[in-house]
Amino acid sequence: MAILPILQYPDERLHKVAKKIDQVDNGIRKLVRDMAETMYSAPGVGLAATQVDQHIRLIVIDVSETHDDLKVFINPELIQGAGQKENEEGCLSVPGIYEKVSRAERVTVRALDEHGKTFTLEAEGLLAVCIQHEMDHLQGKVFVEYLSHLKQTRIRSKLKKQRRETL
Ligand code: NI
Repeated sequence: MAILPILQYPDERLHKVAKKIDQVDNGIRKLVRDMAETMYSAPGVGLAATQVDQHIRLIVIDVSETHDDLKVFINPELIQGAGQKENEEGCLSVPGIYEKVSRAERVTVRALDEHGKTFTLEAEGLLAVCIQHEMDHLQGKVFVEYLSHLKQTRIRSKLKKQRRETL
């Protein structure tokens, strides 16, 4: 297993649109393991392949406190969304920034697991937020892009300053 470098906003590669995975093979399963290790070590609750510069439709999520409930979504599709709720979100590609975003409160998602088997999952709470956040990454969208232009400008300069200070 390996810890992969995570692209940092506003890296242009975060805006690439991910392609559908045609075959769930050992290469995909290796990437799943590496992404899970990267997510757990960060630590974070979700990671999209886009964030490790792999532009394919793959997400890993684990919102459990015990870090033993890894969920893998390959070619995920949102088939239903209900309700609306604002939640504070963060992102491993936008470190130290937490902002409120409004999303569906409950979602139903259909995807393949790491064995290529189709499953359907109904989610609410943090898991629902996380699924929508990570699926946005696959579309090339970072959560801060829901915010006003003024806020986005402020976030970019804050990140620039942070990075200068850690050099
Ligand atoms: Ni993110």
